[in-house]
Amino acid sequence: MGSLPILFELSGEHPTLPTAEALACLRAEAPGFHQIGSGPGYLIVKGDAGRMGRAVDRLALTHRAGRHLGSCGLDALERTAAGLDLPPGSVCVRVRAVQGLYPEVDTYALARKVGNALSSAHAIDLTSPAMYVRVLLSDEAHLFLVEREIDRRSFEQRKVAERPFFSPISLHPRYARALINLTEARAGDRLLDPFCGTGGIVIEAALMGMKAIGSDIDPAMVDGCRRNLRHFGLEAEVEVADVGDVPEMFGEVAAVATDPPYGRAASTRKEDLDTLYSRGMRSMARTLAPGGRAGVVLPIEAG
Ligand SMILES: C[S@@+](CC[C@H](N)C(=O)[O-])C[C@H]1O[C@@H](n2cnc3c(N)ncnc32)[C@H](O)[C@@H]1O
Repeated sequence: MGSLPILFELSGEHPTLPTAEALACLRAEAPGFHQIGSGPGYLIVKGDAGRMGRAVDRLALTHRAGRHLGSCGLDALERTAAGLDLPPGSVCVRVRAVQGLYPEVDTYALARKVGNALSSAHAIDLTSPAMYVRVLLSDEAHLFLVEREIDRRSFEQRKVAERPFFSPISLHPRYARALINLTEARAGDRLLDPFCGTGGIVIEAALMGMKAIGSDIDPAMVDGCRRNLRHFGLEAEVEVADVGDVPEMFGEVAAVATDPPYGRAASTRKEDLDTLYSRGMRSMARTLAPGGRAGVVLPIEAG
């Protein structure tokens, strides 16, 4: 498969994280790609389409991706659609406006018009089409052929309340996954969470085929983390340890992904946060392999 432009339809849950996550996964799985466009709700890159599927499949903050067919103003949409060179087969068109843009546009009516423009060359089938053409209304209208859908519901099945051992301290699995993705770690890499708590990050890393390692100073958390891993049929090395001891305990790791305590005295065992963070950062730097990356969630005071 050659070099093709691929459009990523991003989730709107954060202004910059979805783009950063997609680019990090491409660096990890499809080196040599380059970015050719971005704007509200989308990213377009060009590169080896055969390798991009692996990057897309691991994403948490993208809805879907596929071959970019063209971009144009709203007034040129039907003309652009009529000139598309699509593979043979029936088609269904869907239109979505990004983040409340184009409130005046009836997206269903627009999808019908685009469908009409395609109908001379393709049967329209709204129930089981051979392909979905999607139009994303953002800074322009972007048309793409949907090739991969991210199953974002699977993340809901692993959220805190669905695990046998739970505590509200855990990140949502989508954010745990995105944090891991930002480290650019790959399947088979050793990835450590030295503040593993109930195991939200360790679970995602193990699911992604990494050699997941977790540690926590609290033995109850370590027991609970092991229980949660068993519940999902996953394996990981999980031990009781202070963050300062992880380099000696686990040796070199390719990546660290973690969310240290956010400041409630109970979760730091009364250690001052600044001291814990600087000890933690030094320890993570010592255990990371040269060139390895750490993804660390830190609290930012609003205002
Ligand atoms: C925000 S929670 C981590 C949540 C975790 N990602 C999860 O999915 O449940 C922070 C964790 O850091 C642990 N912790 C606090 N001080 C520590 C230390 N000095 N060394 C290692 N772990 C520590 C706490 O016991 C707590 O489980």
